[in-house]
Amino acid sequence: MSEGEHRPQPPGGASTKARLHIVTGKGGTGKTTVAAALAQALASGGGRVLLVEVEGRQGLATLLGVPPLPYEEREMISAPGGGTVCVLAADAESALLEYLEMFYGMRRAGQALNRLGAVDFATTIAPGLRDVLLTGKATEAVRRRRGARRRASDAPSTEPFHYDAVVMDAPPTGRIAQFLNVNSEVAGLARAGPIRNHADRVMEVIRSGGTRVHFVSVLEEMPAQETRDGIAEISALGIRVGVVLVNMVRPPLLDEPGLVAAADGGPDLHALSAGLKEAGLDDPEELAAALAGEVRAHALRVRLERRVRIGLEDLGRPLLELPLLEGGVDRAALDLLARRLIDQGVRR
Ligand SMILES: Nc1ncnc2c1ncn2[C@@H]1O[C@H](COP(=O)(O)OP(=O)(O)O)[C@@H](O)[C@H]1O
Ligand SMILES: [Mg+2]
Repeated sequence: MSEGEHRPQPPGGASTKARLHIVTGKGGTGKTTVAAALAQALASGGGRVLLVEVEGRQGLATLLGVPPLPYEEREMISAPGGGTVCVLAADAESALLEYLEMFYGMRRAGQALNRLGAVDFATTIAPGLRDVLLTGKATEAVRRRRGARRRASDAPSTEPFHYDAVVMDAPPTGRIAQFLNVNSEVAGLARAGPIRNHADRVMEVIRSGGTRVHFVSVLEEMPAQETRDGIAEISALGIRVGVVLVNMVRPPLLDEPGLVAAADGGPDLHALSAGLKEAGLDDPEELAAALAGEVRAHALRVRLERRVRIGLEDLGRPLLELPLLEGGVDRAALDLLARRLIDQGVRR
């Protein structure tokens, strides 16, 4: 065992030191929210981060409380200590038009194709094309250098990168492996030529040491199982797995002996109803039974959550936690989540 393995490390440290962060997870576990908080954490202290949405759902606009976003990199969030997060809502059609322009100077032709519905047609009949355009957009942003005009050939450059990091709010775990494995998706589409080369370059970035796929889960069986399956699939593709982000964590309401007692049969009903009676409440027996039910349900949930957490720990990836915020997630809440990630060692 090397010396480095003994040194205590912040759990998020090692695995978040990447330049492309792909955030996946079961639908509804908080991918969009966590991706935004991660982008903010990575930008903190003067960084420049791009947050890309690829599912055309305008989830970032909803989260930020703004009208639908165009296909444009916009500075939209400021991070603690002076960093910035630019936001891009990517869609395959716009990415194809941009691709045609960048590689062939074909803006006008592309627009004509678009008017004819050809772009829509192409990306609908060839879902592999759609995915390679979206991953291509993110990987282009990863490779982009400062000061350079965006162009297809990135000649070796000594300029620093335009973005310190790119965070992708990616498709859910059920689709993530296929989405990222653009090489094989495009294989049936183009064996040679520019699309093939493009796919190879995209795959090179995705498989590089600078890319990590992070999994968002909550402490429930199904999302944890999807995390387990997703990690296996992504690893099998030779893509690096980053951290597991356990979202919406609720603190237990009882102390340890209380939890044990409540889970194993619930509180003493007689004592409880006597207490309620003494307090002058009506129907103390009925109230006591209802309360005891709630307490027992809570204790059982805590027990289940612990089991799920142990299962997630067994995956051998760093576990980062984010609390369940009452009242949902607005910009202030997002700041708080970003700080929690920084506290757990997330940095560029
Ligand atoms: N830590 C949290 N605390 C409270 N609400 C959250 C938290 N994370 C996400 N949410 C809420 O859960 C819902 C789903 O989150 P979202 O990020 O859109 O998930 P996904 O992108 O995986 O579908 C949203 O309403 C969001 O505001
Ligand atoms: Mg989402």
